[in-house]
Order: sequence, then C-alpha cells, then structure tokens
Amino acid sequence: MNKTIIVSNRLPLQVSIKNNSLKIIPSVGGLATGMKSVHAEGNGIWIGWSGIPEEELDSALSKEVAQEIQKEKCVSVPLSIKDIEEYYEGFSNKALWPLFHYFMEYTEFKEQEWEAYKRVNQKFAEVILENIEDGDTVWVHDYQLLLLPQLIKDKKPNTTIGFFLHIPFPSYEIFRTFPWRKEILTGMIGADLLGFHTYDYERHFLSSVKRILRLEVNFNQISYQDRLIMVDSFPMGIDYDKFYNAALEHSSTPQENREFYQRLQEHTSEDKKLILSIDRMDYTKGIPNRIKAFEYFLDKFPEYKEKARLVMLAVPSRSNVPQYQKLKRETDELVGRINGKFATVSWTPIWYFYRALSFDDLIDLYISSDVALITPIRDGMNLVAKEYVATRTKSDGVLILSEMAGASKEMNEALLINPNSFEDFADNLKRALCMPLDEQQKRMKFLQKRLKRYNVEKWAKEFLASLETTKQLKGAII
Ligand code: G6P
Repeated sequence: MNKTIIVSNRLPLQVSIKNNSLKIIPSVGGLATGMKSVHAEGNGIWIGWSGIPEEELDSALSKEVAQEIQKEKCVSVPLSIKDIEEYYEGFSNKALWPLFHYFMEYTEFKEQEWEAYKRVNQKFAEVILENIEDGDTVWVHDYQLLLLPQLIKDKKPNTTIGFFLHIPFPSYEIFRTFPWRKEILTGMIGADLLGFHTYDYERHFLSSVKRILRLEVNFNQISYQDRLIMVDSFPMGIDYDKFYNAALEHSSTPQENREFYQRLQEHTSEDKKLILSIDRMDYTKGIPNRIKAFEYFLDKFPEYKEKARLVMLAVPSRSNVPQYQKLKRETDELVGRINGKFATVSWTPIWYFYRALSFDDLIDLYISSDVALITPIRDGMNLVAKEYVATRTKSDGVLILSEMAGASKEMNEALLINPNSFEDFADNLKRALCMPLDEQQKRMKFLQKRLKRYNVEKWAKEFLASLETTKQLKGAII
C-alpha cells in the first residue's frame, strides 16, 4: 500500500531527556494537528529532527529514542551540535528567515552555513530514501528544507512530491539579493506541487522563477525539463472545533482551581478592558512596536488609563540567535519603562509573560480578552488570530489584525491596520474598545463561519487532492 511521507525540520513530538530517562510528548501545534489524519492513514510516516543533538545521546539512548519515536510513526534525522548551529540557527534563521520576512538588515550570508544547509538537506534526503517505496507521496514543509524536493526527485524521479512554504515568499526585488537564489529555486521546483498561504506569495515565487531561472511560466504552471510543476495558494486553517469546544467548556465550568482565569476576570468589567497579544518572541511579530503604539494610545486617549490593560504573552523562541536575545532585552526594557510611566497603585498597563502557557490557560486568556491585538510587521499566516476568533463562543470581541499577516487576506471583517502607523493603531484600538456589541457580533460571525469551514484538516486534504491531480496529469504527459 502506498503511503504519504511527511517531512519537516521538527517532528511533531517533544522529546526530552532527564537523568538518562526519556520523555516523549506528541505536540499540539498547528501543523501536527492538520496532518493528523494524513499521518495516521495506512503506513504514513513523519520524518524530522527530534530536537536533541546527537552528542547528547549515547548509543543505548539513541536506540531507545528511535524506538519510542517509531511508536509514534516517526523517523528522526540525527543532527549534530554543529548542524544545529550552522543549518538551523545559522542558515535557516539568520539568512532565510529574516530575508523572507523582509528584514534585510538582519540577514547574514555565510558560505560555511550555506554548506551546512546543503549537508543537512542531504541528510534528510538520505533518511527519506531509506524509507521510501515506489508509489509513495512525499510532502515537504517549510524554509528549512528548500533543497529537499530536488534531492529526492534526482534519486526517485517517479515519486510525487509536494512542498508547502509556511512563511512569506518575498518579492523578486528582495529575493534577488540572495547569493544562492538559483540553487534555492532549483531545489524547490523538484516538487510537483508548490503551495503558499496567499496568492501574493505564489505570485512572488513565480516571478522569481521566471526572472532568475528564466523558465516558462504559464498562469500557475512552470515548465521545467520534461516536467510540469503546479503552484497554488492554500491558506492554512486551525482545528476550529477544538478551540471552540474548549472555550465553551471553560465558559460553562466552575472557576475553582483556575487561578489564572480568576485573576483575569478580576480585571474585566463593563468599563475595564483586556487587550490580548500573543506571539513567539520573534522580531517579525512587531512586539516593541506594539508596546510603543500602546503608549501612544494611552497618551492620545488618556481616558483609558486605569481602564485598558495589555496582556502580552511572548513565548520564548530561538533564544540562541543574537537578534532574538536583543529583542528580548528591548522588550523587557520597554515594558518596564511604560509600566513605570503610567502605573498607579491599582493598575499596571502591561501584564507581560515570557513563557509558554498551557492549553487551558491559553483558552482562559482568549475567552477573557475583549480585543485581540495581532500586529506583526510581517507574518506568513498567523494562526493566533484565527484561534482568538474560534474561542469567541458568544461572537463578541474584536480582532485588530495587521495587513502584513497572511491571515488578513481571509479576515476582512477584522479591523485591519498598518502596524507601522501609530495613528492607525491608536484610532483602531479606540474603535475596537467602543464597538457596539451588534457590530462585534456581525463581524465575528462572518469570520467564524469562514474559519469553521476552511479548517486545518480541509487545508491538508485540499493540498493532497491537488497533488493527486498533479500526479494524474504527470501520468498523462508521460
Ligand atoms: C514558524 C515556522 C516553523 C517553525 C516554527 C517554530 O512557524 O514556519 O517552521 O517550526 O516557526 O520555530 P522553531 O524554530 O522553534 O521550529
């Protein structure tokens, strides 16, 4: 029986080792949820990195990790400390990530890290080749593995390969500055179908293929050697019912033992509002900008002092990369300065959490917030915006969303803002805080209907259905 092989940098598992004993927890992230049914089907497997450097595993432990991972239908690609430094922290997160998010001033192009990127993509290819059989389908995910489609196609030309990019694809003017632009594009078009979150990213990609590789592009098809490659957009959704049902349950169950929820409730009332902000601690998310804009708002509309509070959750991320460390310091300082400037004995304008929250606390935070302020400077999609909408079981609440998030393309009923304009920011925050309930509900219901219909499972199914069509097309050409 043919199977689907899912490949991503990280496995959908959290592996940890304490006192030589192993703990494996399946992860609940968006991608893991979306791929659940694909992964569960038949002999489907997931190939990726366990998150632990090879050096931390002696041979007995390494065997045990492999066995435990195998029970979850996963296969790990062993990465050394050097690989992690050069391929993951280095090339992926110091060159590709900033460039694809238009942070050109943050990019570092180092030959040695490029070599590591090629080496590690090759390592992934080898593990795939050990596990692949004729007729299998391979679905590769994200910017850490851009060379992988071609590496597989070279060795197994008859394999059907899909690739999905979870971050933006930048405009040609940005992408052309990349030293290894040809190699990256050639790597990607090893896939038979390439998927992006939005039509804009798709267009940018096609434009780079046309101008850099000088290939023939017809609408959304690329002709390359004797192959036809399809390109399309598939906006990723969330597990809507999971968030909706959890919110429903939290709203209707007693509050004892939920200290976090109780504390949040103490600070909401008819005239006291909670404004939510949740991100990974990443410079693309515009966290310092959001804090400064909140200061601008409080200066412009002082009547909201003691009335509005920003609850800001920043989840630690890539903390070995210097730009992320700098961002953490800047955020700490800004929160301190602004709290110092405005705080009164009974009110602190910003509640700041630098950690991950449990799913239950996250739901409590969503259901307690009157406004969600999701204002990245640049973001491939942004699923937090969608999660907030799914938890509004009474269809109240207002979403303020950056135009620079891929999600804004499907969420027109949100208040869309340019995150760089403090004026736009402050006026829309005021508008959100004053919005009549019937307008809130009207907007929210539109958003909810759309997100419920186009959930993450549908996203995965539609991608695979298109890949299947591509496969048949390929058969017809041959
Ligand atoms: C983004 C990327 C993913 C990545 C995730 C977390 O969503 O698109 O590929 O896995 O961030 O980042 P990390 O570096 O911790 O895997």
